[in-house]
Order: sequence, then structure tokens, then C-alpha cells
Amino acid sequence: MHRNELNSVAKAMVATGKGILAADESTPTIGKRFDAINTESTEVTRRRYREMLFTTPGIADYIGGVILFDETLRQSTSDGVPFAKYISDLGMIPGIKVDTGAKPLAGFPGETVTEGLDGLRDRLSEYYDLGARFAKWRAVINIGENIPSDFCLQANARALARYAALCQEASIVPIVEPEVLMDGDHNIARCEEVTNAALDALFTALAEHRVALEGIILKPNMVISGSDAADRAGPAQVAAATLRCLQAHVPADIPGIAFLSGGQTAEEATEHLDLMNKAGDLPWELSFSYGRALQAPALAAWQGTEDNFGAGQSALFKRAKFNSLAHGGQYETSMESDAA
Ligand code: 13P
Repeated sequence: MHRNELNSVAKAMVATGKGILAADESTPTIGKRFDAINTESTEVTRRRYREMLFTTPGIADYIGGVILFDETLRQSTSDGVPFAKYISDLGMIPGIKVDTGAKPLAGFPGETVTEGLDGLRDRLSEYYDLGARFAKWRAVINIGENIPSDFCLQANARALARYAALCQEASIVPIVEPEVLMDGDHNIARCEEVTNAALDALFTALAEHRVALEGIILKPNMVISGSDAADRAGPAQVAAATLRCLQAHVPADIPGIAFLSGGQTAEEATEHLDLMNKAGDLPWELSFSYGRALQAPALAAWQGTEDNFGAGQSALFKRAKFNSLAHGGQYETSMESDAA
């Protein structure tokens, strides 16, 4: 595909007021989410849950792209419309998770490398035929004593870059996700140091692999205190540290940055995004690609029952709308109680 076409797809995914719905949980992960609401995870319940999300009235005003898992890309609405077609008919772009998960990195205890490159060219071609126009690959970087190693950062950056190059060859926009995990008791300065190193390794590898920056979306973590840290940094500090890190590493050629939520509460993830956009003039769109921060309230409202189908949709609508406002720097925390 021509670079211009990759660029227009990437721009549409994070257009003004829009972000990405990450609904690409693997079967084991969605199983855990369903366990928490005492709902059995079967092909039928997973399809129905995803149908609830995608058919939320008005959702396309706030969502530019939807990331699907392999199973979901092959499923259809109750009326028999393939989900990919249903999503694109509404003006949203369907995407697909293509990595096969973070696996222990041999010789490097506590560290992982993401797999899924073998056979990826053929899988991408099939996914394109099924309607996917972007893909996602998540690298996982763990913070701990003496980790991450530089080797782990390099191994993950090279895998991300090889994936991104293969996607662009297949006319698919790669979402490039180097996630520095929030797990641990480290402070925000340590998260900033590791995120800086991860982004540095990533952009070096992308250049070496000849990836066209105007045809990717970066999906980073925010710079934030560890979830078990004694004294966690507040929202203004998170926003400032995250912007400092992105401005130091992310070239202006990148059309958009769409954050992961990574275990932040739904409200925190919205407030942090809003504060960064309020800070002003940025060279890239700064948006969201949230999984849990969009879906957790919807799952809690749904509880696996048909009676709560509409309540689940309302909960998703509210988070999508608030994050859309945050993309424009127009969210206020007071809206949370106003809308309740
Ligand atoms: P969270 O927003 O729940 O971190 O998920 C986003 C995602 O797609 C992780 O790969």
C-alpha cells in the first residue's frame, strides 16, 4: 500500500474526538474477565458480549477503530452480519491482534518476549481479506530489581519492528505497543526511566527496519507510579512526566498516540488523557486505545445477563464519550457525578 493510504487509515483511527476500543482479549483473558462476573466463557457468550459492545447506539461518534481477537473477526451479529462489516459500515475501522502472547525470555528470569512472527505474512493476508485494516502487537516490559535488561528491550523492539514492517507490506496499519507494566512498588521516576529506554530502543529499531512512521499508531503506557508504590504520583505529575517522555522520543511524523489503560481505573485513565490534551499544542493526536478502562464498567453493568444488555451499552457509551472529550481536553471530573 502507498504510504498515503496507511497514513489516512492511521489518522482515521485517532481522528478528532475519536479513539480505539481494545476488545481483543484472548480467550484465556476474556475468561478471567467473565469469571469476575460469574459468567461462563463460551463461544456463544463471548460473541454476545462483543455484540453488546459493538452495537452500542452512538458509539461510532467516539470510536474510530475496534481491535478484535481472531475468534471475533470470524463471528457475526445476531442478524448474521460479520462483525468486521458491521463495524466498518458504521464508519469505524476493524483491527486484529496478531501477536501470540508474551513468553518467558530464555536466560532472562522475570522477562518476556512477545511471539507471533512465524507465519505472520500469511496470517496478515488472511486478516486483510476478512476486513482488518490495522493490527496490534503488544510487547511487555516488566520493572523489577535489575530488570528490564537492555537485551530484553532490544529483543522486544526488534520483534515490534519486524511485525510493523510486515503489516505495512500487507497494507495494514500496525499499532506498536511497548507496554511498561504498572505492576510493582517502583516510583514514577523509575517508570519514566524505563519508558524512555523502551521508546528509544523502539524508534531505533523502527528506523532500522524501514518502517514508515506516518503509517503507524504508537500505543504506549503512561508514565505512572507502580500500583503498589507507597506514595503514588497525582494526575498532574503523571500528565507532565508522560508528555516529557513522549516529546523526547516520538517523532512528529507519527500521526497518533493512543494510550493503553494498563490497570488504571476508568476515571483515572480519562483524567490523565484529558490533562495531557489540556496542556496544549502537540505534534500528534493524543488519544486512547483502552481495554479495561472502557470495558470494566460495561462488564460490571452487564453481569452476563440479557436483561442488562442496555445497561452494559450505556456504561460503555459513557466511557467512550468521556474519553472522546478527554482527547479534546474538554473533560471535567465533575461530569462523572453529573452523568450518574
Ligand atoms: P488495557 O487498556 O486494559 O491495558 O488494554 C489495552 C490493550 O490493548 C493492551 O494490549
